[in-house]
Amino acid sequence: MQVKWLKLKNFRNYDECKLNFFEGMNLISGKNGQGKTNLVEAVMLCALSKSPRTSRDDDMKKENTSHFEVEICVQRNFGTLTIKCILDDLTKKKFYLNSNEVKKISDIFGNLVAVYFSPNDLKIVSEGPSERRDFMDTDISQLSSYYYNLTQRYNKVLEQRNKLLKMVHSRQLIEEQIDIWDEQLSTLAGYIVKTRKSFIKKLTVPASEIMRNITKDADDIKISYVGSKGETSAEIKNEILGALKYNLAKDMELGYTTIGPHRDDIKFELNGKDSKIFASQGQQRSIVLAIKLAELEVFKNELGESPVLVLDDVFSELDTARQKSLYKKLSGLQVLMTGTLFKFKPEEKYLSIMVNNGQVKTKLKEKL
Ligand SMILES: Nc1ncnc2c1ncn2[C@@H]1O[C@H](COP(=O)(O)OP(=O)(O)OP(=O)(O)O)[C@@H](O)[C@H]1O
Ligand SMILES: [Mg+2]
Repeated sequence: MQVKWLKLKNFRNYDECKLNFFEGMNLISGKNGQGKTNLVEAVMLCALSKSPRTSRDDDMKKENTSHFEVEICVQRNFGTLTIKCILDDLTKKKFYLNSNEVKKISDIFGNLVAVYFSPNDLKIVSEGPSERRDFMDTDISQLSSYYYNLTQRYNKVLEQRNKLLKMVHSRQLIEEQIDIWDEQLSTLAGYIVKTRKSFIKKLTVPASEIMRNITKDADDIKISYVGSKGETSAEIKNEILGALKYNLAKDMELGYTTIGPHRDDIKFELNGKDSKIFASQGQQRSIVLAIKLAELEVFKNELGESPVLVLDDVFSELDTARQKSLYKKLSGLQVLMTGTLFKFKPEEKYLSIMVNNGQVKTKLKEKL
């Protein structure tokens, strides 16, 4: 699939902008603070229904304006579609798919599917489990709005169970009501964990291959899900239901639920060792790059067409040899890539997008 064009109105440092993308490589360059990341943020807003860099939608409104609009046109193998996002002072952000208002946010997922990689994603390896759960949940949701809805329902039931656990003075009430919440929570958890496990399993083989390829066989990675045991959703549900009962006294003491998918994690092993502790910064960067490129393959298999690859400020940190080999790997895909300095330009035709203070200029560069 590919993004055909993007229109912005009062978005970040843009007044108005219409940008036609190229079907292959798009190199978005310019000095610091000119609006390169803002452009890819707008693209990702249409893919994820939220910004990848802020949880406050108002941040995206141009300063001193009252509303923003982002519209994007996507070419899929079955036809074209448009996604529009509008935020004004009075309402929450609204989405339109082919000009029809979207009632449920989850209906946005799966229309524009993009793999996004920014320096912030290094957190997937270097920081705590919640970063890794977010990574899984965001990316699986792009493929399955059903999964997104499950996680929303799970969070609501979890909130109810935690509220009940906090009623320390009514032990009897807790004991009377907890079974209802445990049943619902473990059923939802069974589906969530099963989906996550199968996603992680699909990621492992391509991630390891890509890692060995990037590092010329010096490094290998293994990815595994750390959480409840079991293969089928029924097995996982039973395991979690048992654990909820077993941990009830502890949960009551703490006032929250200590087991379940909201506490699970992913383990990245680099050459057999935990990469959070043992991998160098450069190795951590290569691990995340390998995971994202593996995700491209998983998405492509699931969708029957390639997703769009969005690389924010990732390329400039690679040396010339790695930039060269990455360009080769990415041919045949649509790539939106930002950077201040591209030491090495693609050999194939590409679109150069120069960004200067919220203004863009494009130039199609032909093969040398
Ligand atoms: N809501 C907003 N209204 C107006 N300007 C904004 C808003 N949010 C951010 N900006 C401006 O946008 C610019 C930053 O844009 P962006 O993050 O896209 O830069 P960049 O080109 O990616 O730079 P770098 O190379 O440093 O990553 C800054 O000048 C910032 O002040
Ligand atoms: Mg930037």
